[in-house]
Amino acid sequence: MAILMNGKEVAQSLRRDLAKEVSNLRERGIEVTLAVVLVGSDPASEVYVRNKHKACLEAGIRSLQITLPEATTEERLLSEVEKLNADPKINGILVQLPLPKHIDEKKITEAILPIKDVDAFHPENVGRITLGTPRFLPCTPAGIMDLLAFYGVNAEGRRCVVVGRSNIVGKPISSLLLAANGTVTTCHSRTKDLPSVTREADILVVAVGKPKMLTADMVKPGAVVIDVGIHRGEDGKLCGDVDFASVEPIASYITPVPGGVGPMTIAELLANTLRAAKYQNNL
Ligand code: GUN
Repeated sequence: MAILMNGKEVAQSLRRDLAKEVSNLRERGIEVTLAVVLVGSDPASEVYVRNKHKACLEAGIRSLQITLPEATTEERLLSEVEKLNADPKINGILVQLPLPKHIDEKKITEAILPIKDVDAFHPENVGRITLGTPRFLPCTPAGIMDLLAFYGVNAEGRRCVVVGRSNIVGKPISSLLLAANGTVTTCHSRTKDLPSVTREADILVVAVGKPKMLTADMVKPGAVVIDVGIHRGEDGKLCGDVDFASVEPIASYITPVPGGVGPMTIAELLANTLRAAKYQNNL
């Protein structure tokens, strides 16, 4: 029986702490503000953006929502980003991904001022993470590291296996585990004999986007298992990339879905927005 890593609870405590800091800044005349840009009407993105807005309000962070139609041109979106870059009242800018196919995500990501890039997707911020001098940490990997720290799981000297190599999760969590002195292996769709690699993991992070793909035969007994996936199963229930029913009995710690990594991601976005406001006010 594994110990459940309760992301909902840890995130709540993180949000309470940062709400106090946001309120202190307000007393000093600084209104912490996040701008979220959504292009089109992807249903999942709409839910994410709504949740981010709600979380901002609860923490006392002003949240500006900019919703643009699906047909928005790249030029129009770039000019919106430029406007937010130039506005001193805006501390953080997040452009929700994915963008419609006719817009180059790379171009938009690179247009966001690095000091306002609360996603940490800009090449400058990605480079800083790799060099070990981060300004912002990407939200999901930061949430995973905080969750591990809360439960006293130390990566130092341990075998860490990350399944998935996305720019949003797989690559940056590999960097953070390495920075925490873990011995890190990053697996992906071309990895040969994946189970033999995942079975070596003391800490196993799964971010592949395939429901229940990680099964008990791929896990070393006693491993710490972090599930980044979220899917709506055929039974209508939410599930992750990990087959929770089979893996939970043999893991030492495991994140549930929902209530594991997801709530941490939003809390880290708020933390980055607060951090941005502090940087911009030399605090
Ligand atoms: N779409 C899915 N996850 C994310 C995220 O963390 N940031 C942005 N901007 N878009 C996303």
